[in-house]
Amino acid sequence: MPDIETLLHEKRVFKPSSEFAKRANWSKKTTNEYRKLGAKSPERFWAKMAREYVTWFTPWKQVLRWKPPFARWFVGGKLNVSYNCLDRHLEGENAWRRNKAAILWEGEPGDSRTLTFAELHREVCKFANVLKDLGVKKGDRVALYMPMIPELAIAMLACTRIGAPHSIVFGGFSAEALRDRINDAGARTVVTADGGFRRGKSVLLKAAVDEALTGAPGVENVVVVRRTGDPVAMQSGRDRWWHDVMAEASAKCPPAKLDSEHPLFILYTSGTTGKPKGVLHTTGGYLTHVASTSHAIFDLKEDDTFWCTADIGWVTGHSYVVYGILANGATTVMYEGAPTHPGPDRLWSIVEKYGVTVFYTAPTAIRTFVRLGDEHPKKHDLSSLRLLGTVGEPINPEAWMWYHRVIGGRRCPIVDTWWQTETGGILITPLPAAVNTKPGSATLAFPGIAADVYTEEGVPVRPSDGGFLVLTKPWPGMLRGIWGDPQRYREQYWSKFENIYFAGDGAHRDRQGYFWIMGRIDDVMNISGHRLGTMEVESALVSHEDVAEAAVVGRPDDLTGTAIVAFVTPKGGIRVDGELVGTLRDHVAHQIGAIAKPADIRFTDALPKTRSGKIMRRLLRDIASGRETVGDTTTLEDYSVLARLRESDET
Ligand code: WTA
Repeated sequence: MPDIETLLHEKRVFKPSSEFAKRANWSKKTTNEYRKLGAKSPERFWAKMAREYVTWFTPWKQVLRWKPPFARWFVGGKLNVSYNCLDRHLEGENAWRRNKAAILWEGEPGDSRTLTFAELHREVCKFANVLKDLGVKKGDRVALYMPMIPELAIAMLACTRIGAPHSIVFGGFSAEALRDRINDAGARTVVTADGGFRRGKSVLLKAAVDEALTGAPGVENVVVVRRTGDPVAMQSGRDRWWHDVMAEASAKCPPAKLDSEHPLFILYTSGTTGKPKGVLHTTGGYLTHVASTSHAIFDLKEDDTFWCTADIGWVTGHSYVVYGILANGATTVMYEGAPTHPGPDRLWSIVEKYGVTVFYTAPTAIRTFVRLGDEHPKKHDLSSLRLLGTVGEPINPEAWMWYHRVIGGRRCPIVDTWWQTETGGILITPLPAAVNTKPGSATLAFPGIAADVYTEEGVPVRPSDGGFLVLTKPWPGMLRGIWGDPQRYREQYWSKFENIYFAGDGAHRDRQGYFWIMGRIDDVMNISGHRLGTMEVESALVSHEDVAEAAVVGRPDDLTGTAIVAFVTPKGGIRVDGELVGTLRDHVAHQIGAIAKPADIRFTDALPKTRSGKIMRRLLRDIASGRETVGDTTTLEDYSVLARLRESDET
């Protein structure tokens, strides 16, 4: 892990301003008390969070039942997520929130919509009734393949209202990827739109659904939102327009009283095999985790305007565009399109337009803006901002400093939050009033979270040594399993160290115990903060008729963090040229989605392998990033392969 060296020299420390600290939701004192409680008894700490941040219909009998690696939180408790995000803001002492904005939505073409809590509640109840009328029952999976429009949040909350777990598939994934996910989850209902706007063009979603459904015979109903006005084919008996079914739906729908461990959603994410895994989250623990972290880390206040730029198709959007934010009765901003459309200042114009106060984005976006130049944010009044956050990948200290200086005007604390699809919510993070920050470090574990860095032997590393990031105790937002595959759940997360959660990230801790996350150490790449397995891209490549074999690795990239490099052995007699490169890149986009397109494709007549036939990825990584290969190559099957690969055209 060579980056450890550079980060070890990062000496800058930023203290929370006393002005910020004075008003903070979690003062230094509170945070320290919680830290102590969380260390002594995570269960007592999380029970406190569950009481404070969640409304329960029936109290739990036991905080945690832990039969490693299977956890159950708030056993016996009953609740409803949509009730917590909506109804409780319409009654009692919070009733004044009825007409407060829940969602401030901005479409890419510049159109906008505001939904108050009362309006959102009404739409959610109506769509819950639509789902019921379509025969969706408690426990049935509903696939959502939608652009970033309010109907996506409405559909999610409607699912939670009736206890139908949703499976959201990011709109940038291809029809093939959608089909696999629909089939794996066994969804019988799909909600989509004609399309969505991205960089001034429409992305045709319904057409992709039609293609996906040619191989998904289980799907009985499709509901289609009209967003772009693109012509779509409606299959009678199966497809219905959102506006037609909503026009007839009743706005009365009592929230289902669901068990704390009732499945809330499945979200597919890349792992180390070719097949994405359906990460399963449940109700009570997840909501406790995302609601409490939203309040503590983002310091959400009644008058805040919170904007997380993530697409809801990723876990960040699930937890911190929708559930954690609305559970706090806070206003969330949703933006449909590309961050640089129609101009490089689009995000900053949105910050100014809505008076965004808390802003949460990804390092890859920050690096893009650094490159675009300071003049774009400087054109806008960003003085409403008071807190900034990052998530998705390690942030390099210089990008952190730029964010601090140019966006935060040197006054906003920055929370660098580490977590994963599997963790449900944030686990390692500064608390803005209580923790000094260091550029590039996610700092300390949230109270009640037991994080550590282990050596290969399963003991904590010495300060400053690199190792594996682990969680030594269960936490409420943790995944409960992989949909339909308990074996893979055990193997992937709980078998490297017994009963210890293995995150798949490399990290080290400095002398103050601060965590410095170094990135993935397995065969998962982090492209612009999005996870992709090397195996997934390899499977996509070899599914093309011209390809005999393929190996995929990541190489460092200034903008996207990691770029995909594919080494491809074509079948005999296939002509290798620029056209084949284009064909293969399009093929991968068709199989997975545009985010998976390799940046480089290099052709080779053989891949370097060990005598036992394993591809030597370390060598390929070195070649891909232009580093000289060092280390032991005596197990190489064919020495000449290496030399030829290095010479192979970079196309
Ligand atoms: C990486 C996104 C460094 C990490 C919420 C993790 C980070 C993967 C950070 C999960 C951070 C996320 N610093 N690395 N603050 N946050 N990561 O599942 O490699 O899309 O394992 O969840 O992103 O990506 P996922």
